Amino acid sequence: MSPSETTEPWPDPASVTHVAALGGGVIGQSWTALFLAAGKSVALYDPDPTAEQRVREAIERAWPVLHELGLAAESRPSDKLTVCDDPRAAVEGADFVQESVPERLEIKDGLYELIEPVLGEATLVASSASGLTLSELQRGWNDPARLVLGHPFNPPHLIPLVEVMGNERTDPRAVPWARRFYETLGKVTIEVMREVPGHVANRLQAALWREAIHLVNEGVASVEGVDTAVSAGPGLRWAAMGPTLLFHLGAGEGGLAAFCDRYSESFNRWWDDLGDPRLDPSTVERLVLGLAQAKGDASVEDLAEQRDALIQSFIMAKR
Ligand SMILES: NC(=O)c1ccc[n+]([C@@H]2O[C@H](COP(=O)([O-])OP(=O)(O)OC[C@H]3O[C@@H](n4cnc5c(N)ncnc54)[C@H](O)[C@@H]3O)[C@@H](O)[C@H]2O)c1
Repeated sequence: MSPSETTEPWPDPASVTHVAALGGGVIGQSWTALFLAAGKSVALYDPDPTAEQRVREAIERAWPVLHELGLAAESRPSDKLTVCDDPRAAVEGADFVQESVPERLEIKDGLYELIEPVLGEATLVASSASGLTLSELQRGWNDPARLVLGHPFNPPHLIPLVEVMGNERTDPRAVPWARRFYETLGKVTIEVMREVPGHVANRLQAALWREAIHLVNEGVASVEGVDTAVSAGPGLRWAAMGPTLLFHLGAGEGGLAAFCDRYSESFNRWWDDLGDPRLDPSTVERLVLGLAQAKGDASVEDLAEQRDALIQSFIMAKR
């Protein structure tokens, strides 16, 4: 029986106390930290024997930020994490399941097949999948009514956005429920209303990166120059507002209509001239070399720390 056919009401998203995290890699460990910070107990399943230690270390690292952002009430990491050696045990009694296993359909299918028979009547499962589409994920289910896409942005404990999607096979209550649940964790959600590869935010990133690479390939600017043009220019504005709203502010009182009237010819000309590069070996080499020149001796770890500190301060400033 699918959730829409039951008479049982779904739990209030704000009252969820116990969740399951399937997969404890880059994304799963970050989700786990966020769920724990929100006071939930978490049952984790990951077949990698080193996963538990990795996840516990990741929680330790994420906790001070979560606390400073007001997302963790306690200053010390919660001890409400249970590590299970079977996915069925992990989902048993869970009000919500976040699946973050590798982006390979046979792995996701195998897991869904195991957990579907033991899920609670109104337990929602959200997949973090970036590349696979919801209809591909649904193939692993007898009844995918309670499966939604709940796509985060890395790292999920820090970046607010979650893209949520259902389709005609999804229980109509599932997407609004998932959005409300994520919002109780401090997330900002959007609904993806039609299936396209890459959902919304990754497509936007891909579109911008395509032109960034084209400009480097054509010798218009260096890798550093293009990156600076984004982070010191429109990137700062995009953290405040989206592109269409920003352009509404770009032509005075007349708003967006006046902006389009004034600049459509320019935009049409620029669009006609945009590039269409591929990540072929010579392009990759050019980007890697260009980045090495730009970043000096800074390690990936140091740069990631710098990025996270800045993102944290932007999030706090926006409140
Ligand atoms: N990395 C990103 O930037 C990013 C961003 C958003 C969404 N995602 C999506 O999140 C999902 C996970 O990606 P990731 O980057 O965390 O991958 P990852 O490889 O870092 O982690 C995957 C984890 O799943 C575990 N695993 C393997 N088989 C499993 C199984 N049967 N059951 C439970 N766990 C299993 C692995 O041991 C590993 O720890 C993917 O669907 C990916 O598309 C990734």
